[in-house]
Amino acid sequence: MNQACRATYSISQTLVDCSKCGHLLDIAYDWSRIPVPGSMRQFESRWSSRRNPLDFSGVWRFRELLPFAKDEQIVTIGEGQTILQSSAGVGKYAGFQSGKLLLQYEGLNPSGSFKDNGMTAASTHAHMVGAKVAACASTGNTSASLAIYSSTTRLFETIVFIGSGKISFGKLSQALDYGAKTLQIQGDFDDALRQVRDVCAARGIYLCNSVNPFRLEGQKSIMFRVLEGLNWEVPDWIVVPGGNLGNSSAFGKAFTELKELGLINRIPRLAVINASGSNTLYQLFEQHKLRWNGGRLDEAKIITDKFFTQMDADNRRASTLATAIEINRPVNLLKCLRALEVCDGVVREVSDELILEAKAQIGAGGFGCEPASAASVAGAKLLREQGVISPSDRVVCILTGHQLKDPTATVAYHSVDPARLSAAAATEDDAYATMLRKAGVTQTPAANRPIVVENKFESIMALLDRIGC
Ligand code: F0G
Repeated sequence: MNQACRATYSISQTLVDCSKCGHLLDIAYDWSRIPVPGSMRQFESRWSSRRNPLDFSGVWRFRELLPFAKDEQIVTIGEGQTILQSSAGVGKYAGFQSGKLLLQYEGLNPSGSFKDNGMTAASTHAHMVGAKVAACASTGNTSASLAIYSSTTRLFETIVFIGSGKISFGKLSQALDYGAKTLQIQGDFDDALRQVRDVCAARGIYLCNSVNPFRLEGQKSIMFRVLEGLNWEVPDWIVVPGGNLGNSSAFGKAFTELKELGLINRIPRLAVINASGSNTLYQLFEQHKLRWNGGRLDEAKIITDKFFTQMDADNRRASTLATAIEINRPVNLLKCLRALEVCDGVVREVSDELILEAKAQIGAGGFGCEPASAASVAGAKLLREQGVISPSDRVVCILTGHQLKDPTATVAYHSVDPARLSAAAATEDDAYATMLRKAGVTQTPAANRPIVVENKFESIMALLDRIGC
């Protein structure tokens, strides 16, 4: 990534950062030696050969655009069968003209989140280098994804490191059920990530977090499928939740390469959305004006180191109901700055209250998602209100994870008694109200509250009359 360094390493190595400059590595290709199709439309020929698992995969059917493995080395479990759809209700809610807001629904992946796009690529590289054990730290989705690749392919054992407390049950249950060795670190995600990096380096374990550059190669394919869904037209905006910033970094790399290859004629703008309780990128980019700045990474590092030192001194820790993106030190921060530059990007923060409201709108619009994913729609709505995005712009929001990942947040939002959200009325034994109140949620206007009714035919009939059914 560090353009001043330019050290190169062989594909048979398992490094994540450069031993010379210390920055994260990028995968670079000599495109002159790769048979890249002359247009994106040529990839459509693979729709008719779906019995070939590589052509079926929504990642590997674009394999000439992530050409680091031979076909026989590729590890795939049918990831990337995801769809781009418009939702009239969600578009209207966010303030867009009909058909202009589209949702890229990544919850349809085998483990229920976008992570499978990257994990198929990391698993492929792990297989190429003969790894026997793979590991990751996770807020839940990365661990579910790595665990499913391990259990279905049996190519390697898996150890997942998770922080204490905040992982949602849907995700924890996946890691346990898929048989991953699950270590609950007494700390948060950032602690778990620091530990897993050290442990992997000391034991020669293959690391599958998004510091692994192969992960990002796979995640580029989300953008290839967005273009495919738009009949190869480039949208005006991509809006994505920001956590460890792997997705946004991968999207920027995808568009840079497609433009260089002449496969697209312009690059969409990028909006990365933080939860306001976990807003490192927002603070650094929008408030401290930190920029990629032509890749002068040493200057950027001084600013970020100072920011993190202050964060520790103030004992500021990320806290959001969108637990997937509850992250203090996003590891791909600098790569994300590069993506923001390439895509003329913006960063915004949205409150948990708005995230949950957007999530309920997305659910009512026919698509369920987990809280972190809904930050994209909440962010698009905010940017619309601010006049940054116009109502006629074509906007793609990435729904990163499935609704069933975090049922607690969903049930809490829909079933809590709004009166209990005021501090005065709250009692500690009302678990949902306490959870929402701590996250600053004061109202639930999009809630679809369950209706309690007597176990009596007549009462149910009378109720149906009352609610007009
Ligand atoms: N949305 C969901 C559902 C996620 O699980 C994550 C990250 C993000 C958004 C943020 O994506 O890191 O590429 O900016 N989850 C990681 C995990 C951290 O461990 O599962 P990002």
